[in-house]
Amino acid sequence: MKPDLVTVAPESFAQAAAETVREEILSTLAVQDEASLLLSGGTTPLAVYSLLGEGPLGDLPYERLQIFFGDERWVPPKDEQSNGGEALRRWLVKRGLPPSRFHPFFGSDPPSARRAVEEAMTTLARRQGGGVPSFDLALLGLGEDGHVASLFPGSSALHSDELTAETTSPAGPPRRLTVTFPVLNKSRRVLLLVKGRQKAGVLGRFLDRDPELVASRLEGPKITVLADLEASAGLTLL
Ligand code: 6PG
Repeated sequence: MKPDLVTVAPESFAQAAAETVREEILSTLAVQDEASLLLSGGTTPLAVYSLLGEGPLGDLPYERLQIFFGDERWVPPKDEQSNGGEALRRWLVKRGLPPSRFHPFFGSDPPSARRAVEEAMTTLARRQGGGVPSFDLALLGLGEDGHVASLFPGSSALHSDELTAETTSPAGPPRRLTVTFPVLNKSRRVLLLVKGRQKAGVLGRFLDRDPELVASRLEGPKITVLADLEASAGLTLL
């Protein structure tokens, strides 16, 4: 499935991303009791989470959401490098998301954190008829090396048929927990957030479906790339 590309000015990126998240949640809730989200880590979505935490775009029925994460750095939740911690502080605590609907990779050790997430995923999947859970929306960033979530080039997790995996990052906090491609590719919609001049090369490779790129393994029914004009500058859009 060829990804759709939406490009916006850098100053409009967070607003456009927050609007897309809101629209997807509301359209899902128009036809389902609940909406399940897989949130991205990294720096790109932080301004999006802040917008959803403070402005009218974040006025949503949080009692009907299930919030999971594509990956996590193995750091304390209070650490500003914590994907779950930052989404909580910027957005979800401010909106009163019920704790029972928040499923981060938190725990006393990585295996227990993975078990907690996989149990919650299995509960979600059971309501969908079993098997791999299908998230209504998966928010992802794109690493300069082409990784998504914490699925890095050369990692054995790229071939895992489990729901989650423990990986090692070549940059930033090394110990990582991540969902795997069976989960990502079961998502009803993927929104890939790509911002900044430094992502121009990898974005071009992704849109060309470079088989060497980890992100090229994404193959859900609906993949939207939201890129700012700096990341999309080098693309031939015709
Ligand atoms: C993480 C992410 C990771 C991120 C990309 C892009 O925990 O770092 O989940 O996959 O989305 O590395 O990161 P930036 O948004 O910081 O460029």
